[in-house]
Amino acid sequence: MEKKIEIIFDKFFEYKGNKFFAEGVDIGKLAEKYKTPLYIYSLNYLTKKINDFKGAFSSFPSLICYSVKANSNLSILKSIKTNGLGVDVVSEGELRRAIIAGFGGDKIVFAGVGKTEEEIEFAIKNKIYCFNVENEKEIEFIEKYGKKYKRNVLYNIRLNLDLDIETHHYLKTSKNETKFGLDFETGKKIIKKQKENKYSKLIGFHFHLGSQIKSSSFYIKALEKISQFIKETKFYPEVIDIGGGFGIPYSPEDKVEPIKNFGEKICEYVQNMKVKKIIVEPGRFIVGNTGILLTKVLYVKKRGQKTFVIVDAGMNDLIRPSLYNSSHIIVPYTKKQGKEVKVDVVGPICESGDFLGKDILLPESISAGDYIIIGSCGAYGFSMSSNYNSRRRPAEIIVDGEKEILIREREKFPDLWHNELCL
Ligand code: LLP
Repeated sequence: MEKKIEIIFDKFFEYKGNKFFAEGVDIGKLAEKYKTPLYIYSLNYLTKKINDFKGAFSSFPSLICYSVKANSNLSILKSIKTNGLGVDVVSEGELRRAIIAGFGGDKIVFAGVGKTEEEIEFAIKNKIYCFNVENEKEIEFIEKYGKKYKRNVLYNIRLNLDLDIETHHYLKTSKNETKFGLDFETGKKIIKKQKENKYSKLIGFHFHLGSQIKSSSFYIKALEKISQFIKETKFYPEVIDIGGGFGIPYSPEDKVEPIKNFGEKICEYVQNMKVKKIIVEPGRFIVGNTGILLTKVLYVKKRGQKTFVIVDAGMNDLIRPSLYNSSHIIVPYTKKQGKEVKVDVVGPICESGDFLGKDILLPESISAGDYIIIGSCGAYGFSMSSNYNSRRRPAEIIVDGEKEILIREREKFPDLWHNELCL
């Protein structure tokens, strides 16, 4: 078991003796001090992931823009900024977070299928690097505010490549039936019309195929489609933005191509495309494996053949299993000898879909008061959490060696209703 979990935790989270540690910190101590459920991140693992990604894409000029939606905690953003990356944002809220964390406009790209006019104005006022445009109307807004703020605003056209990839249905974003991107015909129309624009400049093309992609072959297929589009239009872009999507292991059995391969193959392909640089927007790869969710067993309930381990974290804290049927590795905090049994790990929420793991092997002796760890929760964990069932969102901790830092306090009860007015 121990050897296998290394694929996910890379020794930044591991058993020392029979207790589970985050770097040099016994997470049982964190549970006692900060209570559960608790998100715990490893700062040095985060730095390693950033460096692995940078290394993989080092053979071609690349602007790596971390996708804020994966985890938007200000301290996480600050560490990512300190390590030299830019950001991909999709709302004014994310843009404001990026500004607070210290990102300069020259490293901010703004994507999104439904940018409001106000968001476009705010982004131009704050001198972002470029927009990824998904609608002709957006260009009119860009022109309007480019004029107002006397700026030449850069943009890429997001193309829908109608390319299928192997991942969960909800995570595919470049198929025809999805709402994302523009078709080639509209792309061509924009290229033809761009000479009329005075305050905006088309610099390239953008695509985002989807998320949790395990093979580089899909990116190469996408780049082939873009190359064909360039041939047809004779518009030679300075930039290609290849989006995010790079997969990570969620279980020891998950087979994901190493990031080095993705980087090498993509860089090799774009060498021949005569573009000046690529933009890459990884989210999950940077933060996914670097966070865990720590939760406490409240009850163990046996009914017929089934055993339910009821914990204090629910789908409001981590929605991925409920929404995508995703499986996260689940291990006990205290390593116990003896028999293991198959259980369903479920939350306290009033929904049958509120589960964190099904048919999970846990020690037979697991009982109320024990802590368990849900792995690979750094991406789309806290950032997708909610207050459903009027539950307070958890605290977040980052561990650096033997030191722990609280980076978000657990919500307090009045936080739940502080924007409400009572008639
Ligand atoms: N760029 C764009 C335009 C995106 O829409 C996304 C993610 C990314 C970059 C980053 O993708 P990543 O490298 O993290 O795969 N909630 C889902 C994932 C949704 C991803 C949405 N877009 C999940 O929990 O699996």
